[in-house]
Amino acid sequence: MIFSMKLNLNNLNKLLLHTFKDEAELLKNLSKLHSNFTSERGKISEYRESIALISAYTMFYLPTNIIKFKWMMYFLQHTINDVAKLENDMADCDFIDLGTGPATYVLAYLDYFSKFQTKNNKIYAIDCSDLMLKQANLCVQSLFPIFKEKVSFGKWKAHELQKIVSSERKKWLFVGHSLDEIGQESVLNYVEKINPKVITFLTPGTSSSFKELMIIGHELRRKRYTMIYPCHFSCLSPPNDHCPLLKQTQEERWCHQVIKGDFSEDVTRLSQLASIDRRYLPFIAHIYVCDSDYETNANANANTIDNKMRGRVVKFIGESKADIQLDVCILKEQKQLVRVQILKRDIRDNLKRVRSILLGDTLTFEIKKVISNDFYRIGVFL
Ligand SMILES: C[S@@+](CC[C@H](N)C(=O)[O-])C[C@H]1O[C@@H](n2cnc3c(N)ncnc32)[C@H](O)[C@@H]1O
Repeated sequence: MIFSMKLNLNNLNKLLLHTFKDEAELLKNLSKLHSNFTSERGKISEYRESIALISAYTMFYLPTNIIKFKWMMYFLQHTINDVAKLENDMADCDFIDLGTGPATYVLAYLDYFSKFQTKNNKIYAIDCSDLMLKQANLCVQSLFPIFKEKVSFGKWKAHELQKIVSSERKKWLFVGHSLDEIGQESVLNYVEKINPKVITFLTPGTSSSFKELMIIGHELRRKRYTMIYPCHFSCLSPPNDHCPLLKQTQEERWCHQVIKGDFSEDVTRLSQLASIDRRYLPFIAHIYVCDSDYETNANANANTIDNKMRGRVVKFIGESKADIQLDVCILKEQKQLVRVQILKRDIRDNLKRVRSILLGDTLTFEIKKVISNDFYRIGVFL
């Protein structure tokens, strides 16, 4: 279990704004919520004003979204050399969860950084919905009562937040599944006003979210932010401001992460009843910092060392009797998207480990044979 605070429906049920009279009522609301998030996007704002929909969100999307935080930190660990420094800096920051919902990423942050929570940093949970903030408050009070004094809840716009946060303290702006609802311009306004040291976006793992993230990323790089995950900083710094995945025309590919959903039994059961597949969770995490220290670390880690290459796994192509093939984006200054072939006879003892490589993972490898310009046979370092 990657998430230490195991959320099951029993403990969530006790802290909902709305009491569902039975499972059928919960499922009805969940189905409405799901269609508002997918096929009926025009009705997206409806859930913010309904305690039944907010409660359904809390029952299903809170436990299934929250685990992405730990995975994001796991992927990051394989990217940055001095992870301890980065985590320490992150824990030092005031954490600002923009579009907090039922406090999803405030809870994830408190859980992940609980060993640092003696630090006197502050946490701001921001949402435009009073009802959602009420739900968020209940979740924090019940699940992390000892840290509840740390967390402030509010509807602050960027200029209002600027007045209440300390200009002395470093800040981490976290935008989890809310970029599309809040809008790029408004998010950039928060960046402008509070000048965060770290910025994180988590979105669904779709091609449209990827394109949206590349647009806001371009603006952040113009403001001298550096991406530390999933790209290597210099690939996306002007003038190399390009992503090979954006150039794809024939076969649509986009850079995203996919993790295996590992939930309590009742959450898994709910996802089956609601027909919302959570066995594999595609999502996109983009992390930016405005600190050149990490550039050096990312640089050292991402470039070729001892003939080793590093790349981000962006697509699983397939497995045959003889090989496994993946698409990998090479983490060098001139980014290159390549297809790699791993011969099974070379990984006899490690087949299971290679099969468990996730999209978003870092692959460390050496080239054994250049089959064509963008197709290599490789040996992997596990
Ligand atoms: C899909 S939920 C995401 C909640 C949570 N971050 C998560 O990942 O589970 C989006 C949240 O953004 C909030 N939101 C939408 N527009 C907003 C705005 N302009 N300012 C602040 N919050 C907003 C909604 O009320 C909702 O709670």
